[in-house]
Amino acid sequence: MRVLSGIQPTGRFHWGNYFGAIKQYIDLQDAHDGYYFIADLHALTTIREPDVLRGYVRDAALDLLALGLNPERATLFVQSDIPEVSQLCWLLMTGAPLGLLERCHAYKDKASKGLRADVGLFTYPILMAADILAYDSNWVPVGEDQVQHIEVCRDLARSFNAHFGEVFIMPEAKIVPGAAKVPGTDGEKMSKSYDNTLALFGDPKELRKRIMRISTDSRPMEDAKDPETDHLFQLYRLFASEEQIGEVRAIYWKGGFGYGDIKKRLADAAEIYLEPARKRRLDLENNPARVQEILSQGAAKAREAAGNVLQRVQKACGLR
Ligand code: TYM
Repeated sequence: MRVLSGIQPTGRFHWGNYFGAIKQYIDLQDAHDGYYFIADLHALTTIREPDVLRGYVRDAALDLLALGLNPERATLFVQSDIPEVSQLCWLLMTGAPLGLLERCHAYKDKASKGLRADVGLFTYPILMAADILAYDSNWVPVGEDQVQHIEVCRDLARSFNAHFGEVFIMPEAKIVPGAAKVPGTDGEKMSKSYDNTLALFGDPKELRKRIMRISTDSRPMEDAKDPETDHLFQLYRLFASEEQIGEVRAIYWKGGFGYGDIKKRLADAAEIYLEPARKRRLDLENNPARVQEILSQGAAKAREAAGNVLQRVQKACGLR
């Protein structure tokens, strides 16, 4: 299967990015043909400072490699290195109904708050469709918030195929049920825009502080509690072993515990889990030439794949 996904370099990656998406990239890379990219063109809809964007792209590459993305197995590249995708985006824009985009949440949320929404944000899902269709992707591992965009991609591919013949492969979203919507420190979906994130890398002391500030309810300590409805437990189970999960689940049902104790357990489990990646990241930071080489090789391979699809599409619409 061809597996493809992208991630925006709009800040440092957080636990939601990892458990919802990046972990899937890594889990699927051995048995499948993975194409993973850093979506810098999409990031331009929010990051308008060139140096900041460049820094985030570099961090994104380091983070993905440190977390276990293996360039011997998967293809890692930067979106803007593949101009064929932007060309395909235009072809998909012709014939894309306005109503389809008006319903998309990223644009709708911004417009409903009276915030300035530019054409880039409006057409964002079409560029994402081009990203997916340009590589004949079968599976797209993402968190729940991207499922709507993949539906848009499928709609565009379906109507394009109906008009011009079977040019596009129909992709499917792949989500992990227990991690499709990782909660943030306030219990809402973890997101850079809500300032409720827990970072994958960064100062461990700061991370511990943020974990200790995770919101909890005010029920008395002695009450028994249902762990399945508690966002602190949802976070803990992402890092803990089956045995540890069972132990903490029993503590919840029994009652008579403090949330502070669970937070400490979470901080310890996260620290142990992330430690190997932290070490790998330090090594990679000292080898920028190697990182650059991986991205260049990835781009060359991705360009070839996207070029073939683009030619097929151009021919189908009468451009060649
Ligand atoms: P982005 O950069 O916002 O997020 C990257 C990935 O992280 C997932 N994610 C989460 N998963 C679970 N719980 C959360 N709290 C959470 N927060 C983020 C996202 O679902 C995503 O999978 N438009 C995309 C980037 C993109 C793309 C593509 C993805 C561009 N082209 C083509 C797939 C295919 C985005 O903004 O993701």
